[in-house]
Amino acid sequence: MTRSILRWGIISTGGIATEFSQDLCVDPSTRGVTDISHAIAAVGSRSVASAQKFIDGLRSGPETEGWSWGAKNGVLDGCTPHGNYQDVYNDPNVDVIYIGTPPNFHHQNAKEALLAGKHVLCEKPFTFDLEELDELIALAKSKNLFLMEAVWTRFHPLAGAVREVLASGTLGKPLRFTADFSMDWNLDNEPAEHRMLNPALGGGSLLDMGPYPSVWAMLLVHQNPHNTDRDPKVINTYQTVYQRTGVDLNSRWLVEWKGLCQGQLLSDLSCPGHRDATAILQCAEGDLVVEYPPYKAETFHVVPRPDRFPGAITKKTTYHLPVAKGNNGLSYEADEVARCIRAGKIECEKMTWEESRIVQGWFDVVRRSGNTALKGLKGTAGK
Ligand SMILES: NC(=O)c1ccc[n+]([C@@H]2O[C@H](COP(=O)([O-])OP(=O)(O)OC[C@H]3O[C@@H](n4cnc5c(N)ncnc54)[C@H](OP(=O)(O)O)[C@@H]3O)[C@@H](O)[C@H]2O)c1
Repeated sequence: MTRSILRWGIISTGGIATEFSQDLCVDPSTRGVTDISHAIAAVGSRSVASAQKFIDGLRSGPETEGWSWGAKNGVLDGCTPHGNYQDVYNDPNVDVIYIGTPPNFHHQNAKEALLAGKHVLCEKPFTFDLEELDELIALAKSKNLFLMEAVWTRFHPLAGAVREVLASGTLGKPLRFTADFSMDWNLDNEPAEHRMLNPALGGGSLLDMGPYPSVWAMLLVHQNPHNTDRDPKVINTYQTVYQRTGVDLNSRWLVEWKGLCQGQLLSDLSCPGHRDATAILQCAEGDLVVEYPPYKAETFHVVPRPDRFPGAITKKTTYHLPVAKGNNGLSYEADEVARCIRAGKIECEKMTWEESRIVQGWFDVVRRSGNTALKGLKGTAGK
């Protein structure tokens, strides 16, 4: 099969934009991909010097890094540095825009990209609130352009294996669910302007880390063959305020899938997560336990029930599915975007707008029920 090449425009030069771009530079065959290749056609930053520095960094990867392959194999040929984002949206050599800015900018960046006629892959959280997201979805539909939230976890080898176990029916009906993304950020030593601490940049645990307990809620409960509730609601919430800047230090919320089960979700900036269990789905015949980290989980277990009424699962089975060597793990979502765009799709079946809308709606409820500095903020669509 001939490889189709997708030409990316990268918006921003921060941490995750770097990791994503590195993965575009990895040889696709390292992950068994033969139908797709990627090119980075342009990079946009708030200054042209930093866009150039970013490109130079990608061109000078040490030989030991998988992404050093890109510079030698044309991925960065003709890559243009731009000193603003709009010039990337307008660049005729770009097919799709990757957005890696802080959450409060996602709506504006994605909207401008779509208006310029470009497909969009936007980092999580998709937008600041549901109103912003709905505006983007309507725009993507009207312009017939691809739009997806960059929840890379959904495209990892482990996610596929989890889907297969659930589809096999061996676990039986879900009884309850819990998922957690916690990390000790040592916040007192960070400046108040840091994006995780700044309410105006969408800081706090909920918007940044909340997408990960949510992705497991989607994969394990929402997509579970036993679930029929297409609109699971938040029925209880709690947020602890970080007093120095007013963002949420942690957020907890309880979701109900009517007729099935409840799920307890947690994001926390003040405490490390539990290594052995970042998400747990307890079912009638046994449990499914996912090991930390929730964003790039590589191991899960199917285990017998611990109590005196045993289920049908009687022995522990471990599944270990690491991302391919040399890849950070963001390449899988990039491949998926390329395949969707090649097929003329505007929405991805593995990461649907419906599911992004549900999670974004949960965040709105948690944020508005709490007492953080983000409580009363509206996204740009609401202004
Ligand atoms: N998928 C994942 O695993 C993952 C991991 C980490 C973060 N994320 C998400 O990715 C997004 C970015 O996170 P990050 O950790 O990469 O952030 P970061 O390192 O702080 O980078 C953000 C970039 O946004 C640009 N920017 C534009 N206006 C800005 C402003 N007023 N203040 C700060 N930066 C501004 C800057 O690039 P220029 O100066 O070049 O314009 C900056 O480097 C967030 O939505 C986050 O939740 C996802």
